[in-house]
Amino acid sequence: MPVYSDGLGLDVTAASGEAASAFGSTVDGYVRFTRDVGDRLKDTLTADPDMPLAHVTKGYFMKLFGTKAMAMRADKALGTATELFARLDTTEREQGHLVALGAWCAGDIDGAADAWERILLDHPKDMLALRLAHFAHFYAGNGGKMRDSVARVLHAWDRSHPLYGNLIGMYGFGLEEAGEYRRGERYAREAVEIDPKDAWSVHAVAHVMEMEGRHREGIDWIKGLEPHWNSVHNFRFHVWWHRALFHLERYELEEVMALYDAQVASDLEADQYLDVVNAAALLWRLELYGLQVGPERWAQLAALAEKHMDDHELIFVSLHYLMALLGAGRLAEAGEMIEKLRAYAKEEGTRDQTQARITGKVGLALADAMTAIRTGSPARAVTLIWPLRDDIRLIGGSHAQRDVFEEMLVDAALKGGETAKARALLSERTEKKPNSAWSWERYGEALGAAGADGSSASRKAAELRTSAH
Ligand SMILES: [Fe+2]
Repeated sequence: MPVYSDGLGLDVTAASGEAASAFGSTVDGYVRFTRDVGDRLKDTLTADPDMPLAHVTKGYFMKLFGTKAMAMRADKALGTATELFARLDTTEREQGHLVALGAWCAGDIDGAADAWERILLDHPKDMLALRLAHFAHFYAGNGGKMRDSVARVLHAWDRSHPLYGNLIGMYGFGLEEAGEYRRGERYAREAVEIDPKDAWSVHAVAHVMEMEGRHREGIDWIKGLEPHWNSVHNFRFHVWWHRALFHLERYELEEVMALYDAQVASDLEADQYLDVVNAAALLWRLELYGLQVGPERWAQLAALAEKHMDDHELIFVSLHYLMALLGAGRLAEAGEMIEKLRAYAKEEGTRDQTQARITGKVGLALADAMTAIRTGSPARAVTLIWPLRDDIRLIGGSHAQRDVFEEMLVDAALKGGETAKARALLSERTEKKPNSAWSWERYGEALGAAGADGSSASRKAAELRTSAH
C-alpha cells in the first residue's frame, strides 16, 4: 500500500492522501482535546476503511476510556488491525504501534510504554506515540519519565510544527511532576502563549501554582484564560477542579461547592472517569475541611461508581469509584468492589498485568484504609497506609490528585490518636506546603495532642486563612 504524509511530518500507510490527512487531523484532535476527535477518526475510516494505523488508533481511543466495555471494543480493533497488518504492507513505525496496542490490551501498560518509546527513537515526531507514553508514565506516577520522554525528542522539533506548543506544554507538565517548578512553568507558559486553548498546558501552570501554594494567583490564571480552555472536551472539568482546589486551600468552601455543582460535576451523565475522579476527591476533601456536602451529591457519584465495579483498567480510577461508594455510605457495594479488586490483583501472577501488580502492592491497602476511615477505625487506616506512603505514587495521577490520600492519612492519624505520626506528617507537610492553612491548623492540633505548644502553628493557620495567598 502507498504511504502519504499525515500533515504532521510523518508518512502513514493509507489508500489516499485524504485518508492520511484525516488521520493527522485525528492525532491533532487527540492532542488538543477537541470535542470532535471521535468524528475525526470516523472520517479517517470512512476515507480508508482498511487503514492499519487508524484501526490501532481506534483501539487506543477505546482503551483510553478506561472501562471494561470499551476495552472489549479495543480488543476487537486489535483483531481487525492484526488482520490488516498481516495482509498489507506497513511501515516499521506502524508495526511498533500494533505491538503497543497488543501489550496494552493484554494489560501490560509498561510494555506498551516501552513500545512507544522504541518508536520514538527513530520517529521523534510521532506525537501519537509520545502522548500515549505521557499517559502511561502519568498513570505509573513517574514524573521523571514524563519529563525525560519528551526531552528525548526535543532535538527533532521546532516552532514550525503545528503541535510544537503542545509538545513543550507536555514537557512543562513533566518537569512540574518531577519537581522542577521554574523550568516547568516557563515551558508551560510558552505553550499557552502559542495556543491559549491548550488546556493541558494551562493546567500544567496551575499545577506549579498548586505545588507552590500560589492559590490566589492560580485562581486568576485559570479565570483569565477560561474563554480559551473551556472549549475543550470533558478535560475542562479537570481545570475547573484545579480552580476549586485553590479556593479550597483559601477556605472559600461556598465557592468550592458552587463550582462543584456548576462545573466539576455538571456532566456526570457523560460517564467519563476523570469527571468522577475530580468530583469524588473534591467531596472527600471538602469533608476533611469540615463542610458537610450532603448525601445527594455522594449518592449521584455512587450511582455511577456501581456501574464500574468490574473496570480494572486503572487502580487510580477504581479507588475514586470506591471513594464515591464509601462517601454515600454504601458499604456492602464498597466491600464487593474491594473483593473484586482483590481477585483482580491475583491476575498479576498469570501474565504481566501492570495495574494488577500495583493494585496488589498499594491499591488494596488504600482501599481497606478508606473503608476503615468510613467505618470509624482511623487508627487501622494509619496502620495500613503508613508503611506504603512512599509507594502511593505508583497508583498514578498527579501529585495534586494524590494529595487526597495524604490528607486522609493526616486526618486519620489525628482522629485515631496516632499523635507521633500525625506530628511527624504535619511537620513534613508544613515544610512542603507552607501556605496550607489546613495543614497548619492540624499541625497545631497534633502538637497540642502531643503535649507541646501548638499555638503558633494555629496562629499561622488563622493568618493564612485571612491572607491573600
Ligand atoms: Fe491536574
